[in-house]
Amino acid sequence: MRQNIEWQELGFKYMQTDCFVRADFKDGKWGALQVSDKPEMQIHIASTCFHYGQACFEGLKAFTQVNGDIRIFRPEQNARRMEKTARRLMMQPVPEELFLEAVNLVVKKNLDYVPPYGTGASLYIRPLLIGSSPYVGVHPSDDYIFLVLCIPVGPYYKNGFYPVKAIVQEGYDRAAPRGVGNVKAAGNYAAGMLGDFEGKEKGYPISLYLDSATHSLIDEFGTSNFLAITKDNKYVTPDSTSILGSITNDSLQTIARDFGMEVEKRHIPVTELSEFTEVGACGTAAVLTPVYSITHGEKIYTFGKECEAGHTLTRLFKQMQGIQYGEIEDKHDWMMKLR
Ligand SMILES: Cc1ncc(COP(=O)(O)O)c(C=O)c1O
Repeated sequence: MRQNIEWQELGFKYMQTDCFVRADFKDGKWGALQVSDKPEMQIHIASTCFHYGQACFEGLKAFTQVNGDIRIFRPEQNARRMEKTARRLMMQPVPEELFLEAVNLVVKKNLDYVPPYGTGASLYIRPLLIGSSPYVGVHPSDDYIFLVLCIPVGPYYKNGFYPVKAIVQEGYDRAAPRGVGNVKAAGNYAAGMLGDFEGKEKGYPISLYLDSATHSLIDEFGTSNFLAITKDNKYVTPDSTSILGSITNDSLQTIARDFGMEVEKRHIPVTELSEFTEVGACGTAAVLTPVYSITHGEKIYTFGKECEAGHTLTRLFKQMQGIQYGEIEDKHDWMMKLR
């Protein structure tokens, strides 16, 4: 049962909720969804998820809307992305219907943890797929565990929609051009931790990665996609084989087109940073983080004002949040109603 939660004070920390849901792939088929109220589970010590990184996840959110409905933002997109990831890592894909059923069920079973409308908070949903068969030789697992947990998370911008400083990561690459950077493999995040951590220690909350083949093109930030606004108000975002297809970015592009803006998905040389009027980082957690400056070696590129987000990014952000909270018409049918 829910304790008194200070919704506005929540960060992005694990909190035990009433339960999580789980389905097992065994003997060549998916079993029924089960609900478990214990956050621990038994798993074989030789499971492929531990030894060979057969582990992947997703992240999406449910929102209480202005009319009291609880809706989930574009869950079918996460289902499809997890399927793509599973195939790339030779894991058993979760059927879209099972994914949607599990996401729906975890929210329904944790209604006490869905933040109320007006708090700026939301329910973060975390699907996870892991290989659970014991193999000591490198081999794809036969059995899999698919589980979905959720946690309430606070408003990302408690003190306003302020820009942050970023740094180009020069010490490490995040993903290879034909590697697994375009899927949500758990190991990608271990690969990025050291660079992101070192950047934070130097005072840069987010790190920007360049393509690892030439180090001349912009790929993405550590855990979010890159987007920029040009002087003639175009929305520009990188085309690269080593970045994650962000569902937030896709949605913001649609909103930008709705606003009559041109959208360009193309190679972006890092030197082009001097041409942009606004830069943002986008992803499920924050929707959009305005970036004030990007440090690249000796060079510092700046965009707009240090303590104020640019006009276009603010407009895109507000439109997206308005749709998520049911304040603006959901004309693209993004918000899935709880079944
Ligand atoms: C590496 C990376 N890029 C981009 C994103 C943003 O994707 P989405 O908008 O689907 O959350 C994320 C977060 O999921 C991420 O981890």
